[in-house]
Amino acid sequence: MRSTFVALSILAGQAFAGVFMTNPTASTTAVGGTAFTINWQDDNKTPTLASIGPVEVGIFVGNVIQQTEVFQINASVDVSKVSSLSFTIPTTIGPNSNNYFVRMTSLALPSPEDAKFKYQSFSSKFQLCSHEHYYFPHLHHRCPNIYWRLQLNLQRCLQHHQRCHRYQG
Ligand SMILES: *[C@@H]1O[C@H](CO)[C@@H](O)[C@H](O)[C@H]1NC(C)=O
Repeated sequence: MRSTFVALSILAGQAFAGVFMTNPTASTTAVGGTAFTINWQDDNKTPTLASIGPVEVGIFVGNVIQQTEVFQINASVDVSKVSSLSFTIPTTIGPNSNNYFVRMTSLALPSPEDAKFKYQSFSSKFQLCSHEHYYFPHLHHRCPNIYWRLQLNLQRCLQHHQRCHRYQG
């Protein structure tokens, strides 16, 4: 894990934009072990996607003061050349919470607000359910008590966003 300290003004100062992430949103639930796609578009405000260029993309937890990368998705992807990134959510990413977000950091472009930092773009915070056990149904036969307890946790997490129907069955 890597912690990064950023100036409060950078997260608060979303008046400037550039990369606008259309997924994940605040109603997104990501599930460990399943495919996930980040999508973005140019919001036609400066800076342009071409000037932002290659970015480092990761899943983070944290707040406006301190952010910790829990999973690096891509070390260098040019936001002006592609508009989505697909990957598998790791099952080991961390506890279930709705405090995860995607952060993009330009490898080259300085922040318009503070040239000490690089340009950054943030997604909404989204829910992540990290359920290794869900993918090991054989546990049910070996130790049914543990399996059902884990299943219950999964359903509670998913029901939080009324998405459980997608993953049960
Ligand atoms: C990062 O994204 C680029 C562009 O989509 C892709 O070619 C590359 O394979 C990706 N790298 C990783 C580690 O996923």
